[in-house]
Amino acid sequence: MSQGVTPPLDEATIAELRELMGRYPQARSALLPMLHLVQSVQGSVTSEGVETCAELLGLTTAEVSGVATFYTMYTRRTMGTHHVGVCTNTLCAVMGGDAIFERLSDHLDVGNDETTADGQVTLERFECIAACDYAPVLTVNWEFLDRQTPESAVDLVDRLRAGEPVQASRGATITSWRDAERVLAGFEDGRADEGPSAGDASLAGLRIAQERGWSAPPIGGTGGSAGDPTAHSKEAAEAEADTRRAEDETVAEESGADVKGGGSSDD
Ligand code: FES
Repeated sequence: MSQGVTPPLDEATIAELRELMGRYPQARSALLPMLHLVQSVQGSVTSEGVETCAELLGLTTAEVSGVATFYTMYTRRTMGTHHVGVCTNTLCAVMGGDAIFERLSDHLDVGNDETTADGQVTLERFECIAACDYAPVLTVNWEFLDRQTPESAVDLVDRLRAGEPVQASRGATITSWRDAERVLAGFEDGRADEGPSAGDASLAGLRIAQERGWSAPPIGGTGGSAGDPTAHSKEAAEAEADTRRAEDETVAEESGADVKGGGSSDD
């Protein structure tokens, strides 16, 4: 779909918004997926989208806008066909994330949160996206591309712009940002199991433990797991909580005494 066209929220979309509302005991809990659905249709959270969600949910437009502007996965600017996120948080940055972002910015001739003139790619800096073991990482339409370099990133966006298939490192083949938004809204595309779901770095510890016959200690510590380990773990957790509470109270009392003491010295 052309990025210059913003289709209206038609009856079919309104019906799907209502379907989302019906999935929750309280309809307003559906606001987040409803906003993803709006993005999948219109390429952003439009004013029409805000007003429609507010009307359907009995909220004010200010309340809906407050949500849409709080979470970074929602955008008020029309997204390109593909959204490329570059992690430039600490670990990725030192592993090459800053260099990747700069190279892509030059290559695409866009800055942060900007879209190429052909509407194909929106580039965005990311904070840590919880994939540090594969640093430096990118995402395309929320799918991970691990251990990238400036050269691989340029090749990646060129392939996206050429319409060539791109396989996520730990996920499905890349489609489009709007398609991904529809999945996030809760309308599955049947590809949840496509591609690898876990990478080698995440599984390294498990593999080493299996090779060496290591296992986790029993639940509840040295008290063992005989009988009912779940029950024991509850008792152990309650005992630990009691201990922590007592320690916290002791610390609070001591610091309170210090404050009083400090106050008298100030007098
Ligand atoms: S710093 Fe980039 S994923 Fe954590």
